[in-house]
This record gives sequence, C-alpha cells and structure tokens, in this order.
Amino acid sequence: MKSMNDVGNLTLAVTGASGSIYAVAMLRALVGDKRVRRIHFVASENALRVFAEELGLSGRNDLPTKLLGSPSDKICLHPESDIGAGIASGSYPSRGMIVLPCSMGTLGAIANGLAANLIQRAADVCLKEQRPLILCVRETPFNRIHLRNMQLAAEAGATIFPVIPTLYNRPQTTTEMAKQFVDRVLAHLGLEQPGAYQWKAEED
Ligand SMILES: Cc1cc2nc3c(=O)[nH]c(=O)nc-3n(C[C@H](O)[C@H](O)[C@H](O)COP(=O)(O)O)c2cc1C
Repeated sequence: MKSMNDVGNLTLAVTGASGSIYAVAMLRALVGDKRVRRIHFVASENALRVFAEELGLSGRNDLPTKLLGSPSDKICLHPESDIGAGIASGSYPSRGMIVLPCSMGTLGAIANGLAANLIQRAADVCLKEQRPLILCVRETPFNRIHLRNMQLAAEAGATIFPVIPTLYNRPQTTTEMAKQFVDRVLAHLGLEQPGAYQWKAEED
C-alpha cells in the first residue's frame, strides 16, 4: 500500500494474548500520528485480564487513559459486545484494522467467520470490504489448528504479522523493541513512522 496523508478511521483491537506493551506502543503511535484522525479501540474481556497481569491495570473505565497516561480525544472506546458500533458495518468508512496482540481464539473466530463480538465482526467487515486487516498473532508453539487458521485468514485477505521482534536493530529496552515492531506494522499499512529503524546494507 502507498503512503497516505490522511487515513481517517483506523481500528485497533486488543485480545487476550501476551504482549500488552505492544498494544500500548501501537496506541501511542496512532495517537501521535496526524494522518490518523480517529482510532476505534476495542479490548476483549480477556485482554483486560492480560493487562492486569502484565501492566497491573484493572477495569475497562478510561482504559486508553490508563494505558497512555493521558487522555486522547482521537480515541473512541467501544465495548467488545457493541455489535452496533460503526465499525461493525461495511458502510462505515474505516481504512483498516490491526489486532495486536491477536490470540489464537480470536484468530480462529476470524478465520472461520464467527463475527460473534465487535472485534470478530469488525475484522469480518474488513475482509468482506477488502480493507487491510493485520493480525499480530502471538502463541508458541503453534498447533496445526493455529497454522490452519492462519492460512485460512491469509487466504481471505488478512496479513498474518506475528509478534516476533527483530534483534538486529539492537533494542535496548522492551519498550524500544515494542516500538520497532509497531513501526514495522504501521509501515506495512503505509504509515511510515519518523525515526523508524532501517536496515542499511554495506553496499548502500
Ligand atoms: C496472562 C495470559 C496470557 C495469555 N497469553 C496468550 C497468548 O500469548 N496467546 C494466546 O493465543 N492466548 C493467550 N492467553 C489465553 C487467551 O486469553 C484465551 O484463549 C482467551 O480465550 C482469548 O480470548 P480473546 O481472543 O477473546 O481475547 C493468555 C491468557 C492469559 C491469562
């Protein structure tokens, strides 16, 4: 996809896989990116459980503020159960969706078209409207069901973008590692981030 000056609405969904720091880094990058006008943010119930384990946060109230440390009027927080939100309809002008981290449960539901909650439905809408859908899956090891579901989702148009950090750029902290991963995801969406690491080959 080409670089964009204005992407309008983007959806960020967080599910109950390990990797809360990646979700925080993504939210921070989207809030700071002037090309993104509105962030539709949905966290599953199980994402809240993982936030509690990994970040010591509790509850859904003011979740974006708790994650970022300050409020942002760009963020529109949706309950996971709100199947009537704009992003649940193909007529709503969304430019794409990132699920970070994406659990094997949500991957399976998306791959099989369950559309049983807002995250699954918004992803289903992206696939039917042929909009970018980036599934940042996280599990290890993968069983054959996981692998099959990744293939199914990829065949339906999703990008499988596993939460696997790069080390050749020598991140010094987990925050830096998460930021570098997020930069790669956003570059894939055409939203190159200023200061993002770029590999320089010797011949350059
Ligand atoms: C602390 C913690 C870490 C977890 N890590 C993962 C993980 O990395 N990948 C995964 O697929 N599930 C993981 N799970 C299990 C999921 O949360 C669980 O399968 C849940 O049903 C997913 O629901 P959701 O997709 O609606 O968020 C974890 C659960 C907990 C409590």
